[in-house]
Amino acid sequence: MTERSMMRVLGGERIDPPPVWIMRQAGRYLPEYRQIRAQAKDFLDFCYTPALAVEAVMQPLRRFDLDAGILFSDILVLPDALGRKVWFVEGEGPRLEPLLDQDTWTFGDPDRVVGFLAPVYETVERIRAAMPAETTLIGFAGGPWTVATYMIQGEGGDKDRCRRATYQRPGDVAALLSVLVEATARHLAAQVAAGADCLQIFESWSEGLPEPLFEEVILKPTKALMARLRALGVTVPVIGFPRGAGALLGRYARETGVTALGVDTQTPAGFARAQAPEGMPLQGNFDPQMLICGGAAMEAEARRVIEDFRGSPHIFNLGHGITPQTPPENLAALVQVIKTGG
Ligand code: CP3
Repeated sequence: MTERSMMRVLGGERIDPPPVWIMRQAGRYLPEYRQIRAQAKDFLDFCYTPALAVEAVMQPLRRFDLDAGILFSDILVLPDALGRKVWFVEGEGPRLEPLLDQDTWTFGDPDRVVGFLAPVYETVERIRAAMPAETTLIGFAGGPWTVATYMIQGEGGDKDRCRRATYQRPGDVAALLSVLVEATARHLAAQVAAGADCLQIFESWSEGLPEPLFEEVILKPTKALMARLRALGVTVPVIGFPRGAGALLGRYARETGVTALGVDTQTPAGFARAQAPEGMPLQGNFDPQMLICGGAAMEAEARRVIEDFRGSPHIFNLGHGITPQTPPENLAALVQVIKTGG
């Protein structure tokens, strides 16, 4: 079997230079992405068309010397599979029918998810066949709380209404989270069965929660998700990315059962290392805004990030997703610096 450098790091090895992939590496900053995106009826249709989704995964791998590809899909296919209406407004982002507008919260059975999302698993199979053998294939899902926030308030933005809902309707929120835990476990297990080498849980909205609420909506559901995944026979490494967890990052790293920790832009590597279990692989945390700016300052910052993470097994990544205004040549220069030190 060809060795996949990112898998070695997830197994606890330090590699110099570190393997690299970029969150949202497939997307609108690439002209060739915008071109195939225009062929799909809408964004979800794009996600459910394996030929297009596979092409989106392959585009950044052709341009840049990346060590991993990530399934092209979205965290919001899960509410779609659970029968909640999901659509994307051009230039604004996702919209869902808010649960907050309803007296009774209803959603489909988690049993339906794997059947509904069959095109996603077909995409995973086809990516594995299309990708070089040494490239790691990452499957993913949203964290239960992050997906719940979109379902509860129907859009992104500040999460104040979701926080109030957890205080005012704790039973409804707990029931929603437990449906999401089961549905997410099955969705991730199906991606692994189709060929994903490892998994990432995007808990993108971990910020701003008082500790007891963080326990209730992030720690408990993630722990349950990890236990359920392992019970389903999934043994691959799992990267947890609790963006914005801040002072509670260590509890996430120690208590949930994830294998590796995604570190966001504001969190120093040394802080993450001190909080996480000894030797836990860390992924991150270059500033996506610096990637837009480019130049010598960007290259110096890349070297600083590599130095900052030197005490841990490290996967180089951004601290959040790449944005549409990023010039692709800046990413080429960044990867070059990481790979050659110059
Ligand atoms: O290369 C990859 O990483 C592609 C796969 C991927 C997408 N979304 C494609 C996508 C992944 C891993 C995601 C995760 C995702 N989706 C998250 C967690 C990561 C994060 O950034 O915090 C979240 C919160 C979502 C929900 C979502 N989907 C939002 C907020 C948006 C709008 C973003 C925007 O800038 O408009 C989406 C749409 C989306 N998902 C796009 C892509 C490439 C852009 C839509 C388009 O092409 O029209």
